Amino acid sequence: MSIKIAPSILAADFANLERDSKMINASEADWFHIDIMDGVFVPNISFGMPVLAAIQKHAKKPLDVHLMIIEPDRYIETFADLGATVLTVHYEACNHLHRTLQKIKSCGMKAGVALNPHTPVNCLNSIIQDIDLVCIMSVNPGFGGQSFIENTYQKVKELKQLITLHKSSCLIEIDGGVTDENASALVTCGADVLVAGSYVFKASNPAENIKLLKEV
Ligand code: DX5
Ligand code: ZN
Repeated sequence: MSIKIAPSILAADFANLERDSKMINASEADWFHIDIMDGVFVPNISFGMPVLAAIQKHAKKPLDVHLMIIEPDRYIETFADLGATVLTVHYEACNHLHRTLQKIKSCGMKAGVALNPHTPVNCLNSIIQDIDLVCIMSVNPGFGGQSFIENTYQKVKELKQLITLHKSSCLIEIDGGVTDENASALVTCGADVLVAGSYVFKASNPAENIKLLKEV
């Protein structure tokens, strides 16, 4: 399976979302990565439902929605209605993760779980079979443009082992500080999906940088 690339809209030009969405459509990217932040779970507020609806009007590829919010259960149906293909909640934000994942799937979406940099992979030992995607945060969530945390490689390897042990088909996604300098090593460790914000949108030719990641 070739690596999937999910450009993060957080780094796009919000005054030109139609243009940037069309760039992703025409590029080798696989998914749109959409970061929803509530200013409580993380110290930043990104954008909400109306903006996602505007992106959805132009997006021709699956929407990979990353919720950095407390009490995500309250909005699962809303994000299904907005066209999310993958809905990822944070492990640290869920008291009843199993119930949350079942609800996401019952709404017709793939269920993802994101882990903050300090959260060990083995917290998923008892639930890995129920997860479609694990998003390993390689920065502290809340902002684009941060530096990649090196310990991520070790976490990806551990997660890959856990997935193999349970014969699960769960995908491994990496989010934060991804560039052409760490992409290849991440894939070697077991990554299936690379999220990239700044590396794509701050480039003079974003589609070319997507292509570079795709070819690692
Ligand atoms: C961080 C977000 C990321 C972010 C990645 O909280 O979850 O998706 O947009 O941006 P870069 O690639 O710039 O680190
Ligand atoms: Zn994200």
